[in-house]
Amino acid sequence: MAYLVSHPDEVKVVSKRFGLGATNLDRYLELDGYKALQKALTMEPDAITNEVKTSNLRGRGGAGFPTGMKWSFVPKQSSKPKYVLCNGDESEPGTCKDRLIFEHDPHSVIEGVMIAALAVGSKVGYIYLRGEYRYLVQIMEKAVADAYARGFIGKNIFGSGKDLEIYVHSGAGAYEVGEESALMESLEGKRGVPRIRPPFPAVVGLWGGPTVINNAETLASVPHIILGGGQWFADLGTPKNGGTRLFCMSGNLEKPGVYELAMGYNLKKMIYDVSGGIPNGRKLKAVVPGGSSVPILKGDEVDVAMDFDAMMKAGTMLGSGGVIVLDDSQCIVKFALRVIKFYQHESCGWCIPCREGTDWLKKTLLRFHSGGGVAKDIDNMKYLADNMLGRTFCPLGDAAAMPIISYIQKFREEFEAHLNGQPCPFEHAHEPALV
Ligand SMILES: Cc1cc2nc3c(=O)[nH]c(=O)nc-3n(C[C@H](O)[C@H](O)[C@H](O)COP(=O)(O)O)c2cc1C
Ligand code: SF4
Repeated sequence: MAYLVSHPDEVKVVSKRFGLGATNLDRYLELDGYKALQKALTMEPDAITNEVKTSNLRGRGGAGFPTGMKWSFVPKQSSKPKYVLCNGDESEPGTCKDRLIFEHDPHSVIEGVMIAALAVGSKVGYIYLRGEYRYLVQIMEKAVADAYARGFIGKNIFGSGKDLEIYVHSGAGAYEVGEESALMESLEGKRGVPRIRPPFPAVVGLWGGPTVINNAETLASVPHIILGGGQWFADLGTPKNGGTRLFCMSGNLEKPGVYELAMGYNLKKMIYDVSGGIPNGRKLKAVVPGGSSVPILKGDEVDVAMDFDAMMKAGTMLGSGGVIVLDDSQCIVKFALRVIKFYQHESCGWCIPCREGTDWLKKTLLRFHSGGGVAKDIDNMKYLADNMLGRTFCPLGDAAAMPIISYIQKFREEFEAHLNGQPCPFEHAHEPALV
């Protein structure tokens, strides 16, 4: 079981059943489980979508797209079946929140999928889990089976006359299948590479049918919105950024962990208060505020609100809620190498700027970090990354390029400090070489 943390500033909505035994269906029912679904069954589909629109819920998978608006793009009439997909691929480095929901409150995801299905007129939902989450597949499959056994899923749910099937599906372990169109390819049993868009999934998605795809945290928020009301949820956050967020605090922190805080909570407070500050009296060097794919913030840029819009204004993104904190003993070049190694490994290899760009960046950073760099490498890496931006088939190319550009722009002097023909000036003798 994952280690749980807490702080008085937390506003527990999605995490309110964590640690309370809600994997057990009876316990879930005691904790208001399936009440939101029963309420949704009495509502018109448009009323459900409107409640979600009022809540200002924005996608927790990374892009922050308004959820109610996404649902409203699904055509009301369709000759093909409609689908709801829960994206539980959770592979962005620094992000480890969805797994807590699956582990502690699996029925909330099921309930969220079912309410989304009622809103868009779908009869089939899929919960897609990343390949590495094998232990969570068991939890989710049991939760689905328990709910079927009580008649909460299947035919004539809660005697409403409505039918809904739910399936749990495990990926094979690839970051790229977290991208929504690659996820649908994978779910259809094909190689997990992205599709050309348009058409967008809301119109042509899984097996060609209109499809809603949402992140697990997004969907787990929905039952709370239906029970508490859209306005209540919206008021928890900031304008256009409703509710709370599971922030995954990692790196050089006294109290790392996943904390649920109101949207717009101050990042500096999150580091120094909620997560206990930087250990060993060290100074803050930098923060990656939204998973490894977003631009970095310098240590003196962290007095900002953590919502989608404020982060954009600060030149970065809220992304997937993965906050990675680096103290002044960390080497940015080494960090860049670590990050690009991930994207190079996870690139599906389909389009050239991503496949070749990530590989050349990795090769250059590897040589550079070990003392073999020349001054021209710095501009070359920036030029290379600039030329990947917006030129790849799916956003993985951008996800690889954006952070590298920001590291060079914000920490150029640290790159230059590696140009003395010596191994990395920050390298600690006890650490294994990064190859
Ligand atoms: C390379 C790549 C990986 C992604 N991985 C995930 C993921 O693991 N989980 C997720 O929810 N969204 C991921 N996304 C975003 C999805 O494509 C999609 O926007 C999201 O599931 C929509 O749900 P939301 O609106 O609730 O955020 C990824 C996107 C890209 C480009
Ligand atoms: S950007 Fe990368 S991951 Fe996306 S299609 Fe191109 S090669 Fe594949």
